Parts: sequence; C-alpha cells; structure tokens
Amino acid sequence: MLNILIVSDEAGNLYSLLESSGFNADTGKESQKTDSYDIAFLDLDVKNWQKKLSELKQQMPVICFAKPNVKTAVAAMKLGASDFLEKPLLGEVLTGAINKYKKKLLDDKYGYDKIIGTSSPMQEVFDLLRKSAASESNVLITGESGTGKELVARAIHRWSRRNEKLFMTINCSAIPDTLLESELFGFEKGSFTGANYPKKGLLELADGGTIFFDEIGDVSPLFQTKILRVLQEGEIMSIGGTRQKKVDLRIISATNKDLKTAVSKTNFREDLYYRLNVINIHLPPLRAKKEDMPVLAEHFVKKHSVKRKDMMIKGITKDAMDILMKHSYPGNVRELENIIERAISLTNCPEILPSDLPAFLKDTFSYNQTGTPKLRDAITTVERETIISALQESGGNISRAAVMLGIYRQQLQRKIKQLRIAT
Ligand SMILES: Nc1ncnc2c1ncn2[C@@H]1O[C@H](COP(=O)(O)OP(=O)(O)OP(=O)(O)O)[C@@H](O)[C@H]1O
Ligand SMILES: [Mg+2]
Repeated sequence: MLNILIVSDEAGNLYSLLESSGFNADTGKESQKTDSYDIAFLDLDVKNWQKKLSELKQQMPVICFAKPNVKTAVAAMKLGASDFLEKPLLGEVLTGAINKYKKKLLDDKYGYDKIIGTSSPMQEVFDLLRKSAASESNVLITGESGTGKELVARAIHRWSRRNEKLFMTINCSAIPDTLLESELFGFEKGSFTGANYPKKGLLELADGGTIFFDEIGDVSPLFQTKILRVLQEGEIMSIGGTRQKKVDLRIISATNKDLKTAVSKTNFREDLYYRLNVINIHLPPLRAKKEDMPVLAEHFVKKHSVKRKDMMIKGITKDAMDILMKHSYPGNVRELENIIERAISLTNCPEILPSDLPAFLKDTFSYNQTGTPKLRDAITTVERETIISALQESGGNISRAAVMLGIYRQQLQRKIKQLRIAT
C-alpha cells in the first residue's frame, strides 16, 4: 500500500478521490515525518511551493499540479518535480500518475533490484547480495526450487564490476560427460575426427565475466575434477591445444541439494565445495517468509496484468489473499507467480477473486468469514473452473464445450451468463 502526502489548500477533495481509488492519503501534519510517505502531490497554489518542492523531492517523487500554465509547469519541472498535472484533477488522471511511479517504488522499497521481499530473512539476503557484488569471491546460492536462486545470481553480476561482460549460465546437469571438455574448454581444428573448425569453450567466452554453474549439486565426478582445476589454476586448455590460457572468471553456483551432506557422503569433492562456497547465500522457502506474500503477490499482479489487454487488473481481494496466505507453497515463489499469472488470465474482475484461484488451494480452506464451509461457494468455484477449462480446450466453441461437459448447449449458455464467464 502506498502512503501519499498531499500538500494543498484543497486537500479534502483530493484526499477523498485517492481514498476511493484505494490509496492511503494524508495531508501531512506539521508534526509528522515526511519519510513515512512514498509519493507527494504538491499544489502550486500553496505559498512557498518552490521551497516545499525542494524539500520534498529529496525524499520522494513529487507530482505537482496547478491550473493550466506552461510557465509554472516548466518552473516546477526545472526545480525537480517528477510530473505536472493540470487542475481540476480527475480520479483516472491521479491513478494513472501514481501507477507510473508505483512499479519503481515497489522495486526500490519492497526489495532489491527485481527481487521482492521485506522480511528479515530477505533483508539478510540483500545484505549478502550487496557484499557479494562488491567482492570477487565465489558465491554458492542454496535454497529449494523456485526460491529465486537464478534471480539472485543475475543481480550479483549486474551489480558487480563485471556487469559489462557476459553472465554465462551453465546448466551443469544438461552437459553429458562426453561433451563436457569440448563445451567447457573448446577445441582446436583437427583435434579429433569431425573437428573441422576451432571452437571456443564456454569458459573462454565468459572471460572477464561471471560463470553461473546452475544445479552444481548434480555434476559428475569428472565435471568436479575439471572445474576444480580451473578454479585452482585460473587457466584452461582447449582439446588439442598446446598452451594454457589465463581466464578471469567469477564463479557463482546454485543448488537445491544439501551439498554439505553430499560432501560427507563423498558424492561431492570437499576441496571443490570450499572453493565454491566462499560466500553462501541461502534463500528461505516462501513458507518461512509469509510476510513477503502480499508484496510478492502485488508485484506479480503488476508484472502479469499487462498481458490482459481488455481489462486493468488492479489487485487481489482480501478473501483471495487469505486463501493464498494459507497455502504452504512447495514450489515456492515460482508457484505463487504461476497461480497469480493463471488468475489474471481467468478473472473477469479488476481484482482477483477466490474463484479465480485453483481449486486445490481451497480444498483445505473455507473463505467464508464465519469459518463454516459454504457448499454453494465451493460448488460455484468448481463449476466455474470446469466450464472455463472446457471453453479453453474447445477454443471458445460453446457447442463443443457443452459436449465435453455432458450438458446441453442452452444449459451451458445459461451457466456462462449466470457465472459471468468471459467467452
Ligand atoms: N523474491 C522474489 N521476487 C520476485 N520474483 C521472484 C522472487 N523469488 C523468485 N522469483 C521468481 O520466481 C521464479 C523462480 O525463480 P528462480 O528461477 O530464480 O528460482 P530457482 O531458485 O533458480 O529455482 P530452481 O531451483 O527450480 O531452478 C522466477 O520467475 C523469479 O523471477
Ligand atoms: Mg534455477
């Protein structure tokens, strides 16, 4: 939720416009600290607006508004206003202006770069991420599937001094041992039958940049030996090559396996483990950072709502959010993102409803306020989802969908109308 500061003699009017659009607005009492606000609306009819603007812009984006006047607008923009709107302000114009800044604010305020999270485990992650970006040490990112390991790896590279060079992802489990050397180190022309041209290996291509060994826990003993040598010597030699070549690489690896246990069971080389794991960033599962759910969900609504050209999806109803909060997310943030993406493509409302969520989320949870499961709600949800998936499968053909559902076409048409399903 954004906190909006209004500085205007006509604040009352604006205040109610913003409240009715679902924002938290305030007229900013003298005593209140301005750093608790996310964005300000400054009326240029107030006295000393120039001074106010200079103060406020240090802390938040300031959107100025006044009667149409080019001179004032230019003066405000020169003094650092983020935007200029003409009076009288209408609800849509206000919401449009706020939404423009919302994404940026969300990214900066609710996370780091594109990684969203305000919980204390995520604050620790951001702290380590910043330190890793500034350092050259190798990083091992651990965490269950879907917790954002690749997202963090990319952010470290983006914020490191290597950001102009390549970020090379090597999906370790996808390279068979037979291709390992030629893929990683490359080969010279004529070094083996079929080597009709020289080819650079991935490690040489990434020279100066960052190598991301994804799923490092799944690599073969041969792979382990080969990369250990690169790490120890900082040199590579192509197949058929005669000289070692120096490479400057920073290694980030990720795994959802427990590498320490693998080391103790001698499935993973201990010397390699310590070389890779100079800095360990552990990403918590989503169930351990439930307080991040609302901001994550809001972030994914914003991210995926652009796919709906016919409707502006603004958010998630409280009932739907309650259901989302109850789930344990074995697939972590990726699972939450998929649920929201699906709901956005199914919904007929500007806000995601419980009926837009998959049935399995609701099996264990009743969204009836009194706590007693309402049979009619449950039936409606199942009916709605079954009809929507039949319509999707039939490509929107109502007759075919009716046959698939085992009902008459007229019956289906009635249901579609009743349940307000978009066809
Ligand atoms: N904190 C977060 N903020 C925003 N998006 C996130 C966050 N964590 C994960 N995601 C999103 O979830 C999805 C999965 O993330 P990612 O691919 O980085 O996970 P992973 O840990 O590498 O999973 P796997 O082990 O299955 O490869 C991506 O779409 C990513 O953008
Ligand atoms: Mg991954």
